[in-house]
Amino acid sequence: MKTIQVGLNERAYDIIIEKGLLPRIGADLAERNIAKRYVVVADSHVAELIGPQLMASLHGAGVAAELITFPRGEESKHLATVAELASKLARLGLDRKDALIALGGGVTGDITGFLAAIYMRGIPFVQIPTTLLAQVDSSVGGKTGVDIPEGKNLVGAFYQPRCVYIDSAVLLELPEAELLNGLAEVIKYSVIYDADFFEFLAKNREAILARDLAVLEEVVARCCAIKAEVVAADEREADLRRILNFGHTIGHAVEAASDYTLAHGLAVGLGMVAVCELAVGKGIFAKEEANRVRQLIADYGLPVEIPAEFANEQTKAFLKTDKKTVGGRPFFVLPTAIGKVVITDDVDEALVNKVFCCS
Ligand code: GLY
Repeated sequence: MKTIQVGLNERAYDIIIEKGLLPRIGADLAERNIAKRYVVVADSHVAELIGPQLMASLHGAGVAAELITFPRGEESKHLATVAELASKLARLGLDRKDALIALGGGVTGDITGFLAAIYMRGIPFVQIPTTLLAQVDSSVGGKTGVDIPEGKNLVGAFYQPRCVYIDSAVLLELPEAELLNGLAEVIKYSVIYDADFFEFLAKNREAILARDLAVLEEVVARCCAIKAEVVAADEREADLRRILNFGHTIGHAVEAASDYTLAHGLAVGLGMVAVCELAVGKGIFAKEEANRVRQLIADYGLPVEIPAEFANEQTKAFLKTDKKTVGGRPFFVLPTAIGKVVITDDVDEALVNKVFCCS
C-alpha cells in the first residue's frame, strides 16, 4: 500500500493506492470519521460492475451508505444531471454531516465533486476512481464541473476530496481503449516532470500493457505523487499547475474538431508530439529528444500524426476557444528537456501553422 499526501494545509488529504483495496475501503472509511452517512454516486454501468462490492465493503464495516446512479457517458456531464442528483440527495434527507463518494471515471468524479461543492453549500466527498485516466489525473487536484453547450468544463469549482482510494486491480476490467486513454496522461507526467519515470515507462512498456498490477501500481503512484506536488504548490492553476496542460492546448483543438469522437488521451498524445515539434522549431528542445517522446507515445500504441481531416485552419481556430486561452493568445507548455518544461504564449504563428498544415 502506498499513501501519498496532497499537502493543502487544512484541506490536505491522502491518496491511498493498493491493488485489491476495494473490499477494504469500508473499514478505512469507518476509521476516518468523515461523515455519518454516505451516498455513492456511480453511472449505471459502474454501479452494476463494482457497486455491489463497494456497498458490501461499506455495509460490512458498519458504514451507512446508499447508491444512486445516472446514465453512463459524457452526455450526462451537464447541469441537469447535477440538478437531478441534488434532488435525489434531498429526498434521501442528506445533510451537511453526510458525504458523497464518487465511484467511477472522470465524468463521475467531476459531476460528483461539483455536486458535493454546491449541495447545501458544500459537503465532503471521497473519490474512488475506476479508470486509469481518473486514477492518474482527474480524481486528484479538486477540479470539478460539468459541460455546457458552449464548451466543456465551463461550469465548475475547485473543490478537494477528503481522500482518494485507488485500487489498481480494477484496471484489469478496463477496455483497451480506456487504458490507452490514461496512458497518454501517464506519459505526460514523465515528460513534464520526471526523466527517470520516462525511462521507467520505456523499460516497462510490456508489463504495463500486459497490466502487471505491481507495475501499474507503481505507475499510478508516481503520477499521483507528481500531481500532488504540483497541486500543493499551485491549487488554482495560477502558474505551475499549468504544466499539467502539456499537450492539451493542441489536443483540445483536435478533440473539439473531431466533435469529441477522438478520445481525450489520444488527442493529448497528438498534442504532446505537436508541441515537441514547436519546441524544436523554437530552438529550445533537441530534435533527438522530441523523437524519443514521439517514439514512446507510438510504442504505447497511441497515434502520433494528427489525422489529415483535422490538420487544417478550422482545427487551428479551436485554439482560440480553449478556456485556458488568455486575450486570444493560446499558451503552450513546451519541453526544454525530457522532465522539464516552460510555459509560453510566444510561439511563431508559422510554427503553429506547420502543425495544422495551414499557412
Ligand atoms: N488535468 C489538469 C489538472 O488537473 O490541472
